[in-house]
Amino acid sequence: MTNSEIAPHIHYIGVNDRTTPLFESLWPLPNGVSYNSYLISGSDKVAIIDGVEVSHALEQIDHIKTILGDRTPDYLIINHMEPDHSGGISLLRSAFPGLTIVGNAQTLAMVKGFYGVTDNTLAIKDGDTLELGGDVTLQFFLTPMVHWPETMMTYFKEGKALFSGDAFGCFGALNGAIVDREMNTERYFPEMVRYYSNIVGKYGQFVQRALAKLANAEIEMICSTHGPVWQEEIDRVIDLYNRLSQYQPLDNGVTIVYGSMYGNTARMAEAAARQLALEGVKEIVIHNASVSSQSQMIADCFAHRGLVIAAPTYSDGLFPPVAALMKALTVRGLKNREVALLGSHTWSPQGIKMMQKYLEAWETEAVAAPVSAKHAPDHNALTQCAEAASALASKLR
Ligand SMILES: Cc1cc2nc3c(=O)[nH]c(=O)nc-3n(C[C@H](O)[C@H](O)[C@H](O)COP(=O)(O)O)c2cc1C
Ligand SMILES: [Fe+2]
Ligand SMILES: [Fe+2]
Repeated sequence: MTNSEIAPHIHYIGVNDRTTPLFESLWPLPNGVSYNSYLISGSDKVAIIDGVEVSHALEQIDHIKTILGDRTPDYLIINHMEPDHSGGISLLRSAFPGLTIVGNAQTLAMVKGFYGVTDNTLAIKDGDTLELGGDVTLQFFLTPMVHWPETMMTYFKEGKALFSGDAFGCFGALNGAIVDREMNTERYFPEMVRYYSNIVGKYGQFVQRALAKLANAEIEMICSTHGPVWQEEIDRVIDLYNRLSQYQPLDNGVTIVYGSMYGNTARMAEAAARQLALEGVKEIVIHNASVSSQSQMIADCFAHRGLVIAAPTYSDGLFPPVAALMKALTVRGLKNREVALLGSHTWSPQGIKMMQKYLEAWETEAVAAPVSAKHAPDHNALTQCAEAASALASKLR
C-alpha cells in the first residue's frame, strides 16, 4: 500500500530535509527543502527520475520497495547531477543492481567523475525517447546551464507531465501535500523567487532558451526537484520564471540596502525610505546588509524595480557587506533596475566610487547624482537623500 501516487503511472518518491540549515552551505532554509524524485511505471519498465541527497537515500529505497513489491526499477534518469539529486546513486545501484543510469554525454561524464560509475549506463541525446511500455513514453529535452551544463528535462508524453529538474523549483519542504491543488501555495512563491535568484539567477538567457524549447509541449503537470508539483498554477509558475529570467522586476517596489557602523549612513537610508513612502511607494523593504541574509537581499533585488544602496567608505573601499551584495548582483547580471546611491565617509568618498563602478557593470545609470555625506549627514545631505528618493519614485510611477 502506498499513498504517493500523484497521477496515473507517477509516484512521488522524494524526501524532506528539515535539518540542513544552509542549502549549498550558502542559502538559509528556514522552512527546509524537499528533494523531489519520481517513479514512473509502464507495463514493461520502471524508471526513477532524479534521486535524492545521500543522507536520505535509504529512506527513498525503502519507499521504492514498498511501491514496487516484486518489481525492481529498470532506469535511473538523471536530469541534474548536483549532489542534492545524485548523491544517492551508489546506494540505489547497490539496492537495485539491474538499474541502468540514463543521461546525456555530459551527465555520464559527471557520473563517472563523482561516483566512479561507468557500467550499466545509457546515453541519450536531445529529443530521444524511451518507451516504458503501455503508452508510457519519455522524451528528453537538453536544457544546458539551467543551472549546470548537463541539465535536461524529461517529458512524459502521454501523461503531459514535465520533469523539469531544478527549473520551477523552490525552497520550502512539503508539509504533507505534494501537488499544488492540495495546499495553500502562497508561501512557496517568495521562496521560488529566492531559489531562482540565488541559484539560477546568473543563467537567465539559458532559462529563456529552455522555455522556448518547451513552448510546443503540452504541459499539464510540472514535477520539479524542489517544492510543490505544479498542476493548477502552471501558468503562474511559468510566467514567474519567464519574467525573472528576463531580469524583469515583479513589482514597482523598492529594496533599500544599507551598511552602517555608527548610524550615519543608516539615517540617510531612512530619509530616502520616508520620502519614497510619502510619494506613494507602498512596497519598501529595508535591509541592514550586516544583519540580513544575502540570500533574501538578492531575492528582493530581483523582485523590486527600485533599489537604493547606501554605504560608508571602509578602509579606502566600500563597506564589505554591501560590496559583497553588489558583487553577487553583478555575478547574476542584474539589470532593468532604477537605482539611487547614497554614501558617507570621513576623508575620501571611495565607497561611492566603487558603487558607481558596479553600476557601470550593470549598464545602469543612477536616477540622480549619488549623495555623498562627509562626517555625519547634515540637514542638506538628508534633503539630498530625499531628493534622490523622489527622483526614484517618479521613475517608478
Ligand atoms: C574601520 C573604519 C574604516 C574607515 N575607513 C575609511 C576610509 O578609508 N575613508 C574614509 O573616508 N572614511 C573611512 N571611515 C569613516 C567612515 O566611512 C565614516 O565615519 C562614515 O560616516 C561611517 O558611516 P556609519 O556611521 O554609517 O558607519 C572608516 C571608518 C571605520 C570605522
Ligand atoms: Fe541544482
Ligand atoms: Fe536541486
